Amino acid sequence: MERFRVTGGARLAGEVRVDGAKNSVLKLMAAALLAEGRTTLTNVPEILDIDFMSALLRRLGCEVEQRPGTVVIDVPAELSHEAPYELVRRLRASICVLGPLVARLGRAKVALPGGDNIGSRALDMHIGGLAKLGATSESEHGYIITEAPKGLTGASVWLDFPSVGATENILMAAVLANGTTVIDNAAREPEIVDLADMLIQMGAKVSGAGTSTIEIEGVPAGSLSPTSHRTVPDRIVAGTWAVAAAMTRGDVTILNANPHHLELPLDKLVTAGADVEWMPDGFRVEMNRRPEAVDIMTLPYPGFPTDLQPAYIALNTVAEGAAMVTENIFEARFMFIDEMVRLGAEIKTDGHHAVIRGRPHLSGAPVRSHDIRAGAGLVLAGLVAEGETIVTDVHHIDRGYADFVAQLNSLGAQVVREPDPDHFHE
Ligand code: EPU
Repeated sequence: MERFRVTGGARLAGEVRVDGAKNSVLKLMAAALLAEGRTTLTNVPEILDIDFMSALLRRLGCEVEQRPGTVVIDVPAELSHEAPYELVRRLRASICVLGPLVARLGRAKVALPGGDNIGSRALDMHIGGLAKLGATSESEHGYIITEAPKGLTGASVWLDFPSVGATENILMAAVLANGTTVIDNAAREPEIVDLADMLIQMGAKVSGAGTSTIEIEGVPAGSLSPTSHRTVPDRIVAGTWAVAAAMTRGDVTILNANPHHLELPLDKLVTAGADVEWMPDGFRVEMNRRPEAVDIMTLPYPGFPTDLQPAYIALNTVAEGAAMVTENIFEARFMFIDEMVRLGAEIKTDGHHAVIRGRPHLSGAPVRSHDIRAGAGLVLAGLVAEGETIVTDVHHIDRGYADFVAQLNSLGAQVVREPDPDHFHE
């Protein structure tokens, strides 16, 4: 176990390059299962989740070669249909193999991922959508067993909520279904568009990705072929750097990023007092004064992303004035607030609302990272805290931020990664 020792006070300045999106590449890796042969994915971040997904694909029978920035997946004619708990428990996104496996094999047995530190992770819309396509699912001994022995049939699917994961699973299943599927109230995230783009390159017939209605005309299994695809840039990592620049009153150029995917978060930084310059391959954030508090309400895309909520809470803890942050996506995503309070932040929560009263300074303390985004938020808070902030359980941060410490230091931060001598297993 390792920890980060963050010495507060540095102003971040310089250039930082963002990799492809974790939350896209994991689904692109699952989509590779739909076609026999070699798929090459580029702009792949070097993070733990990619190792976990690679391990799962290997277990399903694929050969997976991981090179810096690239993953090559060789999918055999015969795949296993079972994703075991020891792999799924490390990576909840493993559930995204369900749709492709049912589409290709007519059956799948995937361990139920369970809840996690950001709340319950229900699968009812994944299962309900696959049921509309003719697949039956049963939960047995901690596994979801989904079967469609005669293949899937296109259908209309209305989602109760624009779930990212459900949209992806149904989309990947529908590309090989017999007939046309329409997903209504579909998620509109850039990662959905990225997945649809790759599926189209593979030979699938998909239209409407990026809108609330996605139409998929099924094609026969043999007509999909493997492809090469460059992953969409990680808007959450890019947004994290943007907040880091604003909080530390710095000047950071974020490259290989798409500001169109961050319109609302960047607009919030402008409201907070930052200058944001859009560039062809990224954007620049400059801040010369104490930020002003900004209200945030998380919603499905193009609303404000829940994955940036902790970073904006961190910003508000040192802002001028008070802000209200409302979390609408994950019920337990305020759990890290008690850690922020350990740094001297003044935050009160009531259900899914948090009121933050900005303080001129935070004060360094030991804090624990609960999940990827909370961990990143705590590191940002540490950058503006007086003295040293020790962030433990950084394996969570490693799941989403490649080389975070080196990148922070290249911008002028003072962060050391070191073994955690106090770590013990309960
Ligand atoms: N939900 C249901 N039933 C379902 C599916 C979802 O009730 O069948 C609920 C969830 O419990 C949650 C809400 O709907 O309360 C949103 O879930 P969604 O399915 O949209 O999220 P996800 O696919 O599980 C992905 C990202 C998350 C990101 C969310 C929202 C991946 C691997 N994960 O999760 O990323 O927060 O979309 O944008 O793509 C992260 O990267 O730190 C992270 C948690």
